Amino acid sequence: MSRRRQVDPARLVAFRVLRRIGDQDAYANLALAAEGAGLETRDAAFATELTFGSCRALGSYDAILERAAGRPVAGLDPAVLDVLRLGTHQLLAMRVPSHAAVATSVDLAATQIGERVAGLVNAVLRKVAARDWDGWLAELSAGLDDLDVLALATQHPRWIVEAWRDALGDRSPDELRAALEADNVAPVNHLVVRPGLASVAELGGTPTRYSPYGAAVPGAPGSIPAVAEGRAGVQDEGSQLVALALSRVEAPSGLWLDLCAGPGGKAALLAGLAIEQGSRLVASELQPHRAGLVAANLACYDGDHEPVTVVADGTRPAWPPASFARVMADVPCTGLGALRRRPESRWRRQPSDLADLVPLQRRLLDSAIAATRPGGVIAYVTCSPQLAETREVVAARAAGAELLRAADYLPEVADAAVDDFVQLWPHRHGTDAMFLALLRRTAA
Ligand SMILES: C[S@@+](CC[C@H](N)C(=O)[O-])C[C@H]1O[C@@H](n2cnc3c(N)ncnc32)[C@H](O)[C@@H]1O
Repeated sequence: MSRRRQVDPARLVAFRVLRRIGDQDAYANLALAAEGAGLETRDAAFATELTFGSCRALGSYDAILERAAGRPVAGLDPAVLDVLRLGTHQLLAMRVPSHAAVATSVDLAATQIGERVAGLVNAVLRKVAARDWDGWLAELSAGLDDLDVLALATQHPRWIVEAWRDALGDRSPDELRAALEADNVAPVNHLVVRPGLASVAELGGTPTRYSPYGAAVPGAPGSIPAVAEGRAGVQDEGSQLVALALSRVEAPSGLWLDLCAGPGGKAALLAGLAIEQGSRLVASELQPHRAGLVAANLACYDGDHEPVTVVADGTRPAWPPASFARVMADVPCTGLGALRRRPESRWRRQPSDLADLVPLQRRLLDSAIAATRPGGVIAYVTCSPQLAETREVVAARAAGAELLRAADYLPEVADAAVDDFVQLWPHRHGTDAMFLALLRRTAA
């Protein structure tokens, strides 16, 4: 008599999250928070590693599964493929004994999909279990060029490997590998104080390496009083630094503008920095619900220089030209600079995403320049190091703004200058891969 099939809660949660990612384009972190809400601590840690690890390595695991199954993965039932991905991660990257990884995957498939797929899952995973990760890399690397091998080994699509290579320029192949590997390490949360409203000491943890406003704090931020009270928030140090750089450039007095403010992380820091300089921030956002998040993030400030939130299309300004002394254009982008916190993103994003994004980025930069008064400063920022979104957008700008040397305004950050720009990297700076250009509005 066959034993009764059982599924443990952590694997079930991981499976459901992968299904939501595949079926509903869900974000891994949000889907895991929803599906895994009831898990015990140990199960939650297992489910997190299993889900995020499987998401990150998806393309490499699919290559392994294709070889093991002897057929294209596109021909498999998507739910079966998700079970196989989870099983592969347990076999090749977690310390789950092979027999347990295979047996639990078969049970998962049989109970969640149907008994009919149990044999297939069993057969394919037994083949996967015949080699370890290095063995599979060696097997699949035969006949591939160096970049394909690197893509497979570091679990990235090739086009992202090429984009990182182009953005790193003349750096060594070792650095390219280090940059890609850093995308596979989940970061510790960075918190940021609202200037004048909280101190870094209140945050606990370790002060951030460069930003005087941040701290690296493991664990749930909501339990920290300053965060719960809105006097501090969660913000990667890279985002803190680009806001700080804009505040440091000498510029005429006058209003500051955050052109693309939602959900309001940079706006919350900029608003405090503006107040410290006797100025005031206008935070503008296209999407009304995201403008609501901005307003909530800015609610901590009051008084004469209280920031203002507006809903506006930054490409069709609701303000006269030359209205602002400092303008932040933190434009919509692929977000590839934050892959370490978005496990599913590298396989969902496509090079074709640039076709819509780049023209919008250009229009927003031109609009930011037009909004700035002569002598004023513009920060063009992306959370992506891709050249098409960064320096190529800046190079294509309309007349009326000259480049400043951005690294001069972040002198404490070593090894961030690329020509006139700042490019931060997880493997070098421990931040997201933020790009910063600073421009001064000329009289023209
Ligand atoms: C990269 S996010 C900004 C992140 C924000 N600065 C922060 O630190 O929290 C880009 C934002 O631009 C908004 N956006 C997109 N198109 C826009 C437009 N035409 N005008 C203004 N905002 C726009 C998006 O809704 C999104 O909230």
